[in-house]
Amino acid sequence: MDLEPIVSEAQRAFAAASDAAALENEKARFLGKTGQLTELLKGLGKLDPEARKSEGARINAAKQQIEAALQARRQALNDALLNARLAAEAIDVTLPGRGPSRGSLHPVLTTWERVEQIFRSIGFDVADGPEIETDWFNFTALNSPENHPARSMQDTFYVEGNDDDGKPLLLRTHTSPMQVRYARMNKPPIKVIAPGRTYRVDSDATHSPMFHQVEGLWIAEDISFADLKGVYTDFLRKFFERDDIQVRFRPSYFPFTEPSAEIDMAFESGKNAGKWLEISGSGQVHPSVVRNMGLDPERYIGFAFGSGLERLAMLRYGVQDLRLFYENDLRFLRQFM
Ligand code: PHE
Repeated sequence: MDLEPIVSEAQRAFAAASDAAALENEKARFLGKTGQLTELLKGLGKLDPEARKSEGARINAAKQQIEAALQARRQALNDALLNARLAAEAIDVTLPGRGPSRGSLHPVLTTWERVEQIFRSIGFDVADGPEIETDWFNFTALNSPENHPARSMQDTFYVEGNDDDGKPLLLRTHTSPMQVRYARMNKPPIKVIAPGRTYRVDSDATHSPMFHQVEGLWIAEDISFADLKGVYTDFLRKFFERDDIQVRFRPSYFPFTEPSAEIDMAFESGKNAGKWLEISGSGQVHPSVVRNMGLDPERYIGFAFGSGLERLAMLRYGVQDLRLFYENDLRFLRQFM
């Protein structure tokens, strides 16, 4: 029997197989269990020994040719696959690099820096103080009576450990303790702001458990409530870069000032347009507080204020909900880059 047609048929079929799966199917037709060559080899048993030897050698030679063709085709298909992948995944080394992307300051921090810069420009020093405070600086020195509701567990975060008076330590509920801290370390005239973090058990659209205040204090021999109005209104005009801001001083009460006032500002735009937002407490420093500063209240007098930095940021940027400042949502934060 002529084996040549079988060999060339296999070579043709392998060359026509376009991928590995098709190639293996073709292989079965020739070399598989019921493949053409396998059938021929099975038939050898019926031949006499002489013929079996020569036929066996011929069939094996054909089988080797077919296997060589199969192997060559497998290699060719693999190479083609590899080349296609290399081309697809090629790196374009001529593309420019991506570079580190630029971050930006948080809008509350931008506000903080802006406030510092404005008060420095009108002669105020800038001070920094502890966020973990003693009961005395946070309350007692500020003339807050022992049973004042602000001291309750609902309003104040207490931390483990006591101060030298055996009183629990707490997270400062306002920046006002800095009034007394600073005044005890500096000689009058005292003209300072103290921005920083403050804490209260409070959370809604205009309150967050951690928030920022900036304390202001001006103590000298002749500083009046009129100076408070002048300085603060001037600050607001500079901060908002306009002269026609809507601001009001509303009579109020704080244990550490007398008289006292809340300072409110109106939203310009947005769903709260025309509504007043409280931005600051303020007043003339109470004589008892002046005494706790180590100063003679008969000689020294002045004003203090404590403003919410988030409140100022909300008004400046038209943000309607304070919680947005703390959600770390880049879609919100990117607007301030
Ligand atoms: N410490 C007050 C508060 O947090 C604000 C304030 C500061 C009021 C200074 C008067 C004077 O509400």
